[in-house]
Amino acid sequence: MTTMTAARTAARVVDAVKVYGAGDTAVRALDGVSVDFPAGRFTAIMGPSGSGKSTLTHCAAGLDTLTSGSAWIGGTDLSSLDDRRLTLLRRDRVGFVFQAFNLVPTLTVAENITLPLDLAGTRGDQEWIDALIDVVGLRDRLHHRPAELSGGQQQRVAVARAFAGRPDVVFADEPTGNLDSRSGEEVLGLLGRTVRHTARTVVMVTHDPVAAAHADEVVFLADGRLVDRMESPTPERILDRMKALEVPS
Ligand SMILES: Nc1ncnc2c1ncn2[C@@H]1O[C@H](COP(=O)(O)OP(=O)(O)OP(=O)(O)O)[C@@H](O)[C@H]1O
Ligand SMILES: [Mg+2]
Repeated sequence: MTTMTAARTAARVVDAVKVYGAGDTAVRALDGVSVDFPAGRFTAIMGPSGSGKSTLTHCAAGLDTLTSGSAWIGGTDLSSLDDRRLTLLRRDRVGFVFQAFNLVPTLTVAENITLPLDLAGTRGDQEWIDALIDVVGLRDRLHHRPAELSGGQQQRVAVARAFAGRPDVVFADEPTGNLDSRSGEEVLGLLGRTVRHTARTVVMVTHDPVAAAHADEVVFLADGRLVDRMESPTPERILDRMKALEVPS
């Protein structure tokens, strides 16, 4: 049995260490990170390039494994699962949005959104998916193919796909990295709305202080370590914090 903290935790890592490679070329991408992502909240992860943001999200989402320490989705320790159970957990409880939208070009918007469910052989919750289509504003594009959509629209499809199976937590690694600022704003507004309307949890990596200010809280990484957390962030406060991280005194 796990002891849960007062506020429910959707995902967390404890003493997370990730070492890539071995010997002289070994890289310690995560160097003892403990962080929890509270349920029903939008958390942003920031930090200089190479600070371990992608590694943290991949390990927390069960897409990669830690060298030591533990990664939890709700009350489940991912290291306690065999490959099959881990695949099922990822399918049923976790969503992921990548920088590249990763849509299937031959499928329509509607088919892309329900693809994970179709692969799992389930119809999913039709009411939920229907509501999601409105939240992401794609009702009039359902029968288009990705090539017929703008970048922002494509990423909105990817967001809808990530939420389609009613996951406990959605991880997004620089979801606005390939978008212009207006499309980026749309996707960020969408992530914020989805958290508020559906009480889902989102963890988003970003380089952009304006993007991170959409979150309820920002966690800062530097050199594979958690160095700060900021509630109710503003772009100005984030920028100040980032400057301090990037120019070590
Ligand atoms: N597959 C890998 N093999 C070896 N080293 C890796 C691998 N993936 C990441 N690293 C290294 O681990 C460290 C952390 O990488 P990570 O991708 O997590 O950083 P990041 O904060 O996401 O950076 P960015 O902002 O540039 O995306 C870096 O030094 C990187 O070079
Ligand atoms: Mg990265």
